[in-house]
Amino acid sequence: MKRTLIVLVVLVLPLLTAVAVGAGSEPPTEVTIDAAANKQGPVAFPHATHMKAVESCATCHHTNEGMTADKVGDVQACSTCHLNPKDEAPDMGQMSLKNNPFHALCINCHKEQKAEHENAPTKCNECHAKK
Ligand code: HEC
Ligand code: HEC
Ligand code: HEC
Ligand code: HEC
Repeated sequence: MKRTLIVLVVLVLPLLTAVAVGAGSEPPTEVTIDAAANKQGPVAFPHATHMKAVESCATCHHTNEGMTADKVGDVQACSTCHLNPKDEAPDMGQMSLKNNPFHALCINCHKEQKAEHENAPTKCNECHAKK
């Protein structure tokens, strides 16, 4: 009994940890962005679509410079830094179309893409679900 436990702790646990850390996190197909949802409803974000449509992962994952679909790094949720930030990171909980980091990022690109991709949303209720 004791021996089995030692084998488990010495051999199996480090192996499991290595697999979990080494592989990085798995890119999601769909994400619901709702960490700040207060005045507006949550936002459905088709992640797989954007992995194809946007050339560089770092356009959005700006703290994972050089990341690719084949080399996924350790990805932190945007809310880790952008929800009620205490440093210079802009706050994802604000209404401003210019200063909210999601508005700046998502809407700017969609405006540029509108001519080719008319489905790229730019209006409030095209992103925010009704509350
Ligand atoms: C391209 C998609 C998109 C569009 C268009 C958009 N938003 Fe947002 N907005 C977001 C995302 C993503 C967040 C972060 C949501 C979260 O974490 O809950 C957000 C956050 C917010 C927040 C802060 C969180 C909350 O729910 O209180 C407000 C307020 C907001 N948006 C209002 C607006 C208004 C008003 C418009 C239209 C003038 C608008 N948004 C257009 C994507 C969008
Ligand atoms: C258009 C913006 C955008 C692009 C491009 C993008 N992502 Fe993401 N990704 C996001 C957002 C937003 C989330 C949700 C993060 C959160 O929960 O706050 C996310 C989540 C993830 C997660 C899950 C993180 C977790 O919390 O477990 C992984 C892994 C990931 N992305 C990898 C990638 C890889 C690899 C690429 C490039 C091939 C990529 N992403 C391209 C915006 C993007
Ligand atoms: C480790 C902390 C951290 C994480 C994780 C993070 N950010 Fe940031 N972000 C910052 C800081 C700090 C700034 C301000 C300084 C700068 O521009 O680098 C910033 C700036 C930005 C800006 C520029 C805003 C402007 O007005 O120029 C955007 C857009 C942005 N982040 C979006 C995101 C998105 C989307 C995610 C998730 C996919 C994310 N960030 C994840 C810390 C982070
Ligand atoms: C750098 C460019 C870029 C950024 C940044 C970006 N998008 Fe998009 N988005 C696109 C393009 C291009 C399409 C059209 C994709 C297609 O039809 O294949 C699109 C389409 C969409 C659609 C509609 C998908 C459909 O199936 O109709 C949603 C919803 C969306 N984006 C949400 C977001 C949100 C929320 C963010 C910010 C977290 C974001 N996008 C950031 C380029 C971008």
